Amino acid sequence: MTTYQKRVDTALDGWLPIPDIQPHRLHEAMRYAVQGGGKRIRPLLVYLTGNALNVDLTGLDAPACAVELIHAYSLVHDDLPGMDDDDLRRGKPTCHKAFDEATAILVGDALQTLAFYVLTHDPHLEINDKRRLEMIETLALASGSRGMAGGQAIDMESVGQSLNIAELENMHIHKTGALIRACVKLGALASNAIDDNQLKKLDHYAKCIGLAFQIQDDILDVESSTETLGKRQGSDIAHNKVTYPALLGLGGAKQMAAELIEEAKNSLADFDEKAESLHWMANYIVARHY
Ligand code: IPE
Ligand code: IPE
Ligand code: MG
Ligand code: MG
Ligand code: MG
Repeated sequence: MTTYQKRVDTALDGWLPIPDIQPHRLHEAMRYAVQGGGKRIRPLLVYLTGNALNVDLTGLDAPACAVELIHAYSLVHDDLPGMDDDDLRRGKPTCHKAFDEATAILVGDALQTLAFYVLTHDPHLEINDKRRLEMIETLALASGSRGMAGGQAIDMESVGQSLNIAELENMHIHKTGALIRACVKLGALASNAIDDNQLKKLDHYAKCIGLAFQIQDDILDVESSTETLGKRQGSDIAHNKVTYPALLGLGGAKQMAAELIEEAKNSLADFDEKAESLHWMANYIVARHY
């Protein structure tokens, strides 16, 4: 995990504009939001999927950076007063607290476009232009109104409402699941040898762990501590958010997450031992404490 985290951090450092370049404050804030914290689970998923399909690591750096840039942007905007209004992220003041709201909005805008710049520009992707376009399309769909941003819209509309389990699942699949699903697809698209059946199996794996990831995030909001999480524990309850523990209780939420992880691992049955790290990742998603 550490090896891949270091790898993506180095690659991100290369793509992020240096604060010496104007506008200094925006570039500084972009680095603040991306660097120094974060588990890097999404880049890891890109690397692990690509690795399971024998893709060279150099061909995975661009999609790994792109998904983390989208994720970092989504966190900056998620924390804004107009959304979850949080003051702590990755153990530091949130971007709008450390800088200001206008800067935080622009950081999100700029990180989002940087993600697509990286996918368009990186010379190390060993795929043809059609594949590259497919990658761009995948990330665009996963991030937009039919993916993460759409899920965030449902999240905001749902505050104070009583959702049923299907509606809650739909919200989580979009706000968090879509980007996680895209990570696995991007890792697979970096391979020139992937077939439709493998892609389908990996996609099902990703769909299951994506939902489980947000269920675990909801569980940790109840069970963990601010210190361990690096973000405010109890923020969901304080903001009247609809979550799995709120709907199913802690036990029900944990059982649901565990079932999804089993389903995810079953979907990998046809893959060889190179996919073992994807099993590990599935387990990690519900075993993690932050
Ligand atoms: C938190 O994601 C936001 C969700 C989508 C649940 P992570 O738990 O991956 O956050 P970092 O990147 O490690 O800070
Ligand atoms: C965030 O979900 C999902 C995103 C797309 C950022 P949360 O609002 O639960 O994430 P945290 O708990 O603030 O990290
Ligand atoms: Mg939120
Ligand atoms: Mg939040
Ligand atoms: Mg949360």
